[in-house]
Amino acid sequence: MAAQPTRADKFSFGLWTVGWNAQDQFGSASRPWLDPVESVHKLAELGAAHVTFHDDDVVPFGSDDAERDKILSRFKGALDETGITVEMVTTNTFSHPIFKDGAFTSNDRRVRRYGLRKVVRNVDLAAELGADTFVMWGGREGAEYDSAKDLNAAHDRYAEGIDTVAAYIKEKGYGLRIALEPKPNEPRGDILLPTIGHAIALIDRLEHSDIVGLNPEVGHEQMAGLNYTQGIALALWAGKLFHIDLNGQKSIKYDQDLVFGHGDLFSAFATVDLLENGFPSGGPTYDGPRHFDYKPSRTEDFQGVWDSASANMATYLLLKERAQAFRADPEVQAAFEESGVLELAQPTLAAGETLADLLADRSAYEDLDVDAVAERGFGFVRLNQLALEHALGAR
Ligand code: GCO
Ligand code: MN
Ligand code: MN
Repeated sequence: MAAQPTRADKFSFGLWTVGWNAQDQFGSASRPWLDPVESVHKLAELGAAHVTFHDDDVVPFGSDDAERDKILSRFKGALDETGITVEMVTTNTFSHPIFKDGAFTSNDRRVRRYGLRKVVRNVDLAAELGADTFVMWGGREGAEYDSAKDLNAAHDRYAEGIDTVAAYIKEKGYGLRIALEPKPNEPRGDILLPTIGHAIALIDRLEHSDIVGLNPEVGHEQMAGLNYTQGIALALWAGKLFHIDLNGQKSIKYDQDLVFGHGDLFSAFATVDLLENGFPSGGPTYDGPRHFDYKPSRTEDFQGVWDSASANMATYLLLKERAQAFRADPEVQAAFEESGVLELAQPTLAAGETLADLLADRSAYEDLDVDAVAERGFGFVRLNQLALEHALGAR
């Protein structure tokens, strides 16, 4: 059995996850939407430390200021009573039909200006609630048809939107960082910034790139057939892993939003190993919330909803325990050594050595017995089997 989650585990849930009414493309809701106040209380009871939400998850779209204040003060009451904090806030720029062609990249300038206003208003709320991260998931920023967008202008407008919000955060002195969330498709046929790599390329060209990073989601990378652990490793290396969305996905298909570990379990092991233990030779680490963005399946009643919330945390804690055992095993450390995993941290050129020195080093090229070097076996399969046996609790 998994350990009981505690606040120190920094588990965090989107209110749109447990709260979801389970309406999908093919059928109507199988549960009512949950009251966010109830979700906060229940998540606190189950051991979560934080919640996150879209503006519209808490305050229904179109509420007037008086209604908004009333709802928010009741919500803050629940936070105070439970000690749950809001670590991330995000904006819904995808549900209302006004956003059918996107927000920051809609072909209609009125929509872009409205979207920016909606986002900025929510930045104020995020700061007021003490959040650290402001996520931007551009779910509708994309197209079904290549002819529908001037893609150069679309990237200009995307960058303009993000930079405008980032500048506002700085001007206000808010302690917020923006985290972009890549996704390849769904709800649009193709979404801009489909992967971690695409998003990093755009971030690098922003004026305020220092406060813009990433919120990569397990399923989104896997929908593109990519390796999530490798993706967040790049984000860490680039100093851009600001937040994470953990869930489960079985291969390249629609966004399944399963419980963490209920998709590619062995990949989830590698992810937890990286998050908890860092890279084998050290380097940047992730210290932020362990945030779940999943959907309790449509088959579930409320008992199933809370079971699934607990399942995310339990799976994470089980994998954490296994990953720690994996790293602590002397046989694994020896296998790392043998496979050259630790040798990779050694720079290819020695300290002070120049390319000219390398060109003059006959032992590196002219005299190197390439066939002899090529004979080396790396032992990766054995290492992987050790990982698997630890993941299964067989060691
Ligand atoms: C999805 C996304 C969203 C975002 C959320 C936060 O595929 O629907 O993962 O759940 O994470 O909108 O911005
Ligand atoms: Mn998703
Ligand atoms: Mn997400």
